[in-house]
Amino acid sequence: MGAPTAGARLLTVALWSGRFAAAPAQELWDLTVDLATDGQLWREDLAVNRAHAHMLAACGILAPAVAAALECALDQVEEELAGGRFVFVDSDEDVHMAVERRLTELAGDAGRAVHAGRSRNDQVATDFRLWCRGAAARLTAGLDRLSGALLDQVDRAGAALAPGYTHLQPAQPVTLGLVLLAHVAAFDRDAGRLAAAAERADECPLGAGALATSTLPLDPAATARELGFARPFGNSIDAVAARDFALELLAAAAIAAVHLSRLGEEVVLWATDEFGFVALDDAWSTGSSMMPQKKNPDVAELARATAGRVQGALVALLTVNKGLPLSYNRDLQEDKAITLTAVRRLELALAGMAGLIAGCSFRLDRLEQRAAAAGAAATDLAERLVAEGVPFRLAHERIGALVGRLAAAHRGLAEVTAEELAAVHPCLAGCSGSWLSARACVDRRRLPGGPHPEAVAAAAAEARARIARRTTKETR
Ligand code: ARG
Repeated sequence: MGAPTAGARLLTVALWSGRFAAAPAQELWDLTVDLATDGQLWREDLAVNRAHAHMLAACGILAPAVAAALECALDQVEEELAGGRFVFVDSDEDVHMAVERRLTELAGDAGRAVHAGRSRNDQVATDFRLWCRGAAARLTAGLDRLSGALLDQVDRAGAALAPGYTHLQPAQPVTLGLVLLAHVAAFDRDAGRLAAAAERADECPLGAGALATSTLPLDPAATARELGFARPFGNSIDAVAARDFALELLAAAAIAAVHLSRLGEEVVLWATDEFGFVALDDAWSTGSSMMPQKKNPDVAELARATAGRVQGALVALLTVNKGLPLSYNRDLQEDKAITLTAVRRLELALAGMAGLIAGCSFRLDRLEQRAAAAGAAATDLAERLVAEGVPFRLAHERIGALVGRLAAAHRGLAEVTAEELAAVHPCLAGCSGSWLSARACVDRRRLPGGPHPEAVAAAAAEARARIARRTTKETR
């Protein structure tokens, strides 16, 4: 608290100190500097520095000797940052200022020349777009690895019978493959959303300057090209003000995290004694500090909780953006702390769940036993009547009445006799016993996208092909 630190700080203060007569207050510095966060963008910042310096040289704004000196200094800064030897100093306001300060220490006037035609506003927007592009690729890879682990389980036991639920009540027997592929389908759409977000973000803000471009003859298309963007900015105010690229990344991430939470919840349920559908590998389970017998699914629980964090980040960044006047405002600095922690958390959760799924073993006997109890055959009997020309509502009513009569006598549908069935409709005479089994129920469902083992195998192959296409595109 108290007066700003004078003297020493004033001398070493930020590179913009020219028009200031007093040093920044300590509390101002504490509030505005967040090197722990934006320091994580150093790779992107160096790439942007290189592209900008190359463009300045190509446009004749930097002399060849200056450009060469800058290139050397940038190499050295990169070595220092990569080796963890870069020393941030008190007066570094952010990673951009730190890099420029160090370039100046190393290359003198060449370092002082690099910021020509540039503002931190277009610089940080460019850095962050690059970072978001990398984040989208990492999240996609994480989703695909998790889907790969699910697909391996489908290959192993996809044809096994499993109970299917609605309202968390046993509904119809399905196959384990259909259940696992439902999660894969959701993660596949998440990857699609990330790709769509990355495509819209594929625009380079560099050259927009503070908000109104520059009087220098810059070449924004050249920097866009060097940095691998599809195009340069179309509006210099929008280029420094827009953060919907991060919002879309977070929106896609939040939906993916919600999907992950649903898988996490299922694993938590499946791993209970009550369900007993899955045994978790020891390496992917945790114990209790007090109860020696405990084996807990913490990975699945934390994956479930990740949805809270990522949704929170999306709402936080939406709120930071809401009502902001154009163009750049310092509020926007908050985008990085919000986005980086949420994305990192989701990456960890995806990796954790991929390991958990890869290492778990499904208890097929138990799944089959519960599938048999799912009592789906009632629908099959009604549909058998429909095939005979009975209107569905009438068929539903007759089978419902049969189930009701059996229930009143404390009997299940599996125990119904051929005579009782024939009394409902002659065509049902052969539908007792094994016709009512869970396996028969699944075998009768031959539609693509359904529980039949052949449909499951086909869907799994398609899912693998989609992932393979994404992976080759990514590494191209
Ligand atoms: N560190 C800031 C950010 O991340 C960039 C600083 C731009 N500041 C400024 N006064 N123009 O948004």
